Amino acid sequence: MGARALQERPRIRGQQVLAGIQPSGVLHLGNYFGALRQFIDLQDGNRAAYFMADLHSLTSIHDAKRRRELTQAAALDFLAMGVDPKRSVLYRQSDFPEVTELAWILTTVTPMGLLQRCVSYKEKLEQGLKPDHGLFAYPVLQAADILIWRADLVPVGQDQKQHLEVTRDVAVKFNLTYREVFKLPEPYILEETAVIPGTDGRKMSKTAGNGIEMFAPDKQLKKQVMGIVTDSKGVDEPKEPDGSTVFQLYALFANPEERAAMAQAFRQGGLGYGDAKKALLDKVMAHFGPARARRRELESRPDTVEDILRDGAARARAATAELMDEVRSAAGLGPPR
Ligand code: ADP
Ligand code: TRP
Repeated sequence: MGARALQERPRIRGQQVLAGIQPSGVLHLGNYFGALRQFIDLQDGNRAAYFMADLHSLTSIHDAKRRRELTQAAALDFLAMGVDPKRSVLYRQSDFPEVTELAWILTTVTPMGLLQRCVSYKEKLEQGLKPDHGLFAYPVLQAADILIWRADLVPVGQDQKQHLEVTRDVAVKFNLTYREVFKLPEPYILEETAVIPGTDGRKMSKTAGNGIEMFAPDKQLKKQVMGIVTDSKGVDEPKEPDGSTVFQLYALFANPEERAAMAQAFRQGGLGYGDAKKALLDKVMAHFGPARARRRELESRPDTVEDILRDGAARARAATAELMDEVRSAAGLGPPR
């Protein structure tokens, strides 16, 4: 864990930022610290575009009603958390059809081997997903999401690093095959929040059931925090903070003094895990309190949210129309020019 406080993060300026989150479940602290928090930060002084990757969710969810609900929920999450539609473009991926057009074009310059090496594909098969073409081609659609914006920076968690490498490789392949059209994007991953541990100490993830969900009802959120797995050391026994998930999560919210105080209390004995979890719960509630209230308020105004998304898609299409013309022209598609 780095020594920086939550409040001190690198300042980035003048970049095109782009990122999406798959609406495949309820957001958790891993999504927040690994991705969303950077979405919010990067709105300042950059051009940012964010989206709900509902087309990507087709590869793992085959229930239409559930997808709609999850996509809607993700839009509320983004907005409540502070994605500001005045400063950023916020859209639903499926409202931006040029992305799928570009994905097909990119597919035809993507070597099979590149996709076969993707760890996330192999992991999804291990989790029981069926090996269909969409799941296999997932990273190509992601490359289209990114390249269509000529993005400089893509804020993601560590697990998406390989997909960014695929994106760069695919861009280079297109540029060499036709002509220099695409810019090579960089992942934006902050070391100290690259992998947030879940309540069982493994990487927090929607599918692992080890999440702490900042928008869950009070009771459920409390249950998740109090359910963090610890060893069986009693209150007075000395504990090693660095190996403790409670401490690692607390440290994400605490300032350096608070962090040092909890580390010391753990080491010298006298601080039990129960009290440490309560301190963590207080931090979570204080940090997300305003966003939780905003989300409730937005939930009662679905039309406003829909207007924002419609406007976002129109802006996205307008902002990338020139690039798409260049792509078609480079590849010899469409009317002669
Ligand atoms: P999940 O792994 O729970 O299905 P997603 O794959 O939808 O989450 O991830 C959305 C974003 O959140 C991605 O940028 C991903 O890298 C990031 N992310 C997810 N889990 C974590 C975690 N435990 N730590 C850091 N970042 C994470
Ligand atoms: N694959 C990403 C995830 O699982 C979601 C995603 C889709 C994405 N397209 C993207 C992230 C483009 C960044 C940029 O979280």
